Amino acid sequence: MRAWRVHQLSEPEGALRLDEVDAPEPRAHEVLIDVAAASLNFPDVLMCRGEYQVRSPLPFTPGLEVCGTVRAVGADADPGLVGRRVIAFSTSGTGGLAEQTVAAATATFPIPDSLADAPASALHVTYQTGHVGLHRRARLASGETLLVHAGAGGVGSAAIQLGLAAGARVVATAGGPEKVQVCRDLGADVVVDYGSEDFVDVVKEFTDGRGADVVYDPVGGDVFDRSTKCIAFEGRIVVVGFTGGRFADARTNHALIKNYSVIGHYWGLYSDTRPDVVRSTHSALMELHCQGRIAPLISREIDMADVPAALASLANRGTWGKVVARW
Ligand SMILES: NC(=O)c1ccc[n+]([C@@H]2O[C@H](COP(=O)([O-])OP(=O)(O)OC[C@H]3O[C@@H](n4cnc5c(N)ncnc54)[C@H](OP(=O)(O)O)[C@@H]3O)[C@@H](O)[C@H]2O)c1
Repeated sequence: MRAWRVHQLSEPEGALRLDEVDAPEPRAHEVLIDVAAASLNFPDVLMCRGEYQVRSPLPFTPGLEVCGTVRAVGADADPGLVGRRVIAFSTSGTGGLAEQTVAAATATFPIPDSLADAPASALHVTYQTGHVGLHRRARLASGETLLVHAGAGGVGSAAIQLGLAAGARVVATAGGPEKVQVCRDLGADVVVDYGSEDFVDVVKEFTDGRGADVVYDPVGGDVFDRSTKCIAFEGRIVVVGFTGGRFADARTNHALIKNYSVIGHYWGLYSDTRPDVVRSTHSALMELHCQGRIAPLISREIDMADVPAALASLANRGTWGKVVARW
């Protein structure tokens, strides 16, 4: 089978080579999946660079999430999964940017035929991260104000939809007029081009000086620092990622004086240690999708051959929504 593999740690176009390799063997608790569609995520870029929190020995195949059909199961996995169309969170090292991937059976979810391959492949990581982050970690309540940074991105667009579905008032930030329009089209109440406007002033004005109850931050660095200037009393800042390239230092004296919380959120740990949470979140997401309240924003479907260039674009703020690759 063909698989994109990282041979040296660098930017995606220097790191990835399309190789002919043997299909991965599912371990006892895993399944082997024929990949129909794989959606790209910023962590794929981090994996190419060797900057992701989970590291696999070289050469390895990146790719977090896929839609595909189960071809075989390991000794302890449910044989009834064979032949089912599923969404899956690939086992690291044997990821989804390949013709076949493996995933834990507990990270594999059958889907209805009505859900097409591309949206199915984009309905897992960013939405799970958003749902667990906003509900379980931040306890977002209806009527609260949610500030979503990089709102036009994969993680951000899912968070805008989930925030609106939860009854929150959503302020989004984005870099540039095109991405601002993407956030408006998603239904955000207010959108700030944070490249040219100060989101702190906008949030304060929108909330009559109170600030945002929840900040969902996949960018970090200066964006995190500025968020502490417009967080509400008893607000929660959810630390989701660091696309800005700098880990901000949370000032604990400031958190004390203003009575806010800084919440670390790494969804991958739930997939590894709390499959029950992932399962119940998947059910909630499927229900929201059936109700038409969430739907992956797919900006481009690409040929799997074009993955390195697409990841380079993702790394350089050149994409919005989700990019999905297919063979
Ligand atoms: N905690 C978790 O469990 C979890 C799960 C999945 C993803 N993540 C993290 O969430 C973040 C977003 O992932 P994603 O896949 O959804 O990516 P993405 O949002 O689709 O793309 C990244 C976006 O970040 C913004 N950005 C701001 N400064 C940037 C910079 N210096 N370089 C590049 N981008 C910059 C850009 O939007 P603007 O141009 O609008 O600023 C860019 O489009 C990543 O850090 C990822 O690792 C975390």
